[in-house]
Amino acid sequence: MQLERILQSQGFGSRKDCRALIRNGGVRVAGAEIDDPFADVATEGLSFEVLGEPWIYREKAYLMLNKPVGYECSREPRHHRSVFALLPDPLVRRGVQSVGRLDEDTTGLLLFTDDGPFIHRWSSGKKKTPKVYEVHTKHGVDDEQIQRLRAGVLLIDEPTPVAAAACERNGECGLRLIVTEGKYHQVKRMVAAAGNRVIGLHRPQIGGLSLPPDLPVGQWRWLDEDDLAQLAQY
Ligand code: URA
Repeated sequence: MQLERILQSQGFGSRKDCRALIRNGGVRVAGAEIDDPFADVATEGLSFEVLGEPWIYREKAYLMLNKPVGYECSREPRHHRSVFALLPDPLVRRGVQSVGRLDEDTTGLLLFTDDGPFIHRWSSGKKKTPKVYEVHTKHGVDDEQIQRLRAGVLLIDEPTPVAAAACERNGECGLRLIVTEGKYHQVKRMVAAAGNRVIGLHRPQIGGLSLPPDLPVGQWRWLDEDDLAQLAQY
């Protein structure tokens, strides 16, 4: 593929921008500067540098973020910062989207990609992907609340009760809840309907994929083959 097209596909700007970047000596492939934007470069296993920053060619981008409090899952946030501000510009420019959403005050595992079918696969409620939430509640959790969450609670605008796939106590004011849908404010609304209130929410796991303990809050990393396999293992 022509080098300028490769850079464009990886989010380094318009073809014109990429052409200028290459002509100005900003791009190295296998350690050597290439200043011909039309040079034919094989994409398989390609690693390159842009302005000294190493990159690997990826046909599609798959990544995870350890989402902090105070960020909205929107490109045009209204009240807080955007989660996209935590990603490098080329990823934002190549159009990665979050796979589902977490509320501004929810923390934890959030996936991003520019692969449309992947977003649909992992955010569609129909696929029943389990999402694990650690819930911190305002009031002590009692057995009746747990029973109600397991049996199903009625949410406004939902025709039938919504049940947790699993729900267990996690300390005096805590729950570990698994849901398979992706409804708006689902966990907060379910816990409220069961007679308590969420004051802290963290998602440590989607499908079989857990947030790695060594990924600091606010940091992202690529998903590798193992991560993608784990995601599907549940
Ligand atoms: N349920 C919620 O209520 N909020 C989230 O951020 C995720 C699930």
